[in-house]
Amino acid sequence: MSDGKEPIGVIGVGWVGLVTAACFAELGHEVWARDILPEKIESLARGEVPIHEPGLPELVAKNAERLHFTTDMDETLEHARLLFVCVDTPPTYSGDADLSRVEKVLHELGDSDRHALVMKSTVPVGTGRSIQRRRPGTGYVSNPEFLKEGSAVADFMSPDRVVVGADGESREYADRVAGLYAPLDAPVVSTDVASAEMIKLASNAFLATKISFINEIANVSEELGADVTEVARGMGLDDRIGPKFLQAGIGYGGSCFPKDVQALKQLAGNTGYHFQLLTSVIEVNELQKRRTISKLQKHLGSLVGKEVALLGVAFKPNTDDIREATSLVLSGRLQGEGAHVRVYDPVAAREADGVLGGAVISDTALDALDGADAVVLVTEWPEFRELDWGGEVKRRLRQPVVIDGRNFLDRDALEAAGFTYEGIGR
Ligand code: UDX
Repeated sequence: MSDGKEPIGVIGVGWVGLVTAACFAELGHEVWARDILPEKIESLARGEVPIHEPGLPELVAKNAERLHFTTDMDETLEHARLLFVCVDTPPTYSGDADLSRVEKVLHELGDSDRHALVMKSTVPVGTGRSIQRRRPGTGYVSNPEFLKEGSAVADFMSPDRVVVGADGESREYADRVAGLYAPLDAPVVSTDVASAEMIKLASNAFLATKISFINEIANVSEELGADVTEVARGMGLDDRIGPKFLQAGIGYGGSCFPKDVQALKQLAGNTGYHFQLLTSVIEVNELQKRRTISKLQKHLGSLVGKEVALLGVAFKPNTDDIREATSLVLSGRLQGEGAHVRVYDPVAAREADGVLGGAVISDTALDALDGADAVVLVTEWPEFRELDWGGEVKRRLRQPVVIDGRNFLDRDALEAAGFTYEGIGR
């Protein structure tokens, strides 16, 4: 199109799809956002955004005229040539990615040679090539997303890089896709499809490795008397290491890291290669989620009948996502040890209902803390720092024991107020 704007199709209006649709609309494109769930489409058409993502409702409202929410694939195909595929690719029991939703999209597309699929869904390396072999007439571009929940709109609008992978004749489509991101002024990595697919998986696996690494440094620091937050500060100033993703804690979660690390390990395994490092990254993370139990036992003895409050259920702040959250493992393990668990989360409490076993979901942080023998800070929501720890919180607790799973609270102030404080790696 001469003005650089072109109609875009977004297939699958989940978290990635909705952010993609809203951001492309914000960049001035007409967007047909198609999902198979009528209730979802109806509520989006009314301007209701079903997920907690800062800035997204505003963006959807502002660009309502350019955003066409629909369940109709034909309508989408009629208006748009570039179809951004944003459907789920969850792990199966074998650890491989479930590509059934991608297959369904291919089926619905028929044998069109007027459209190009732009794959945003995270797929195993090799998926794009196999699709292209089966459908040589359809364009295919790999364009992985690197959005973080809680800052997805900002990440979309100011990306560190844009990756577009294409082979053969599809390179023409890759240029068009890269052109859509041109206003964002980000470096573009133009490459082949398999390498683009690998960039996505390798990036997430590397970040997860960084986290498991610093978590192991934290565990050893606890034994040797070092403070991991100081260690990370000193390491992070080395340009080659960098300060990000060096926060020790009670393990990574979410919809991407656990799934993508597992997927890459599995992909390697399918070729006969044992990815030793990723096996350890996963194991360290699982153990990290459970270490809190022994910390609690150290201070409380047996956990049978003890009241334990978990502050935070979401896998990280600014999201209501609880997928693979540490809270789920902790709540289950604590109840397995005989403890009574109460949880509070400012936005994810509704999601937690029914998946935390017998845990009580409290309406406020103070309710959760009332009469508790210990508090575990699971998610670093800013409001937890603002609690009146020295006053109201201390009065409500039966025992002033705090396990700070994110090294987030003011240790000195808590200790001065008479708390038994234990962080991670300090
Ligand atoms: C991640 C990637 O960052 C993103 O590029 C990709 O597209 C999707 O997966 P997200 O899952 O939203 O994004 O969360 P992120 O902010 O990366 O955090 C992942 C997990 O790692 C969280 O549980 C977080 O608490 C944990 N984490 C992160 C740490 O434990 N320490 C850190 O230093 C950073």
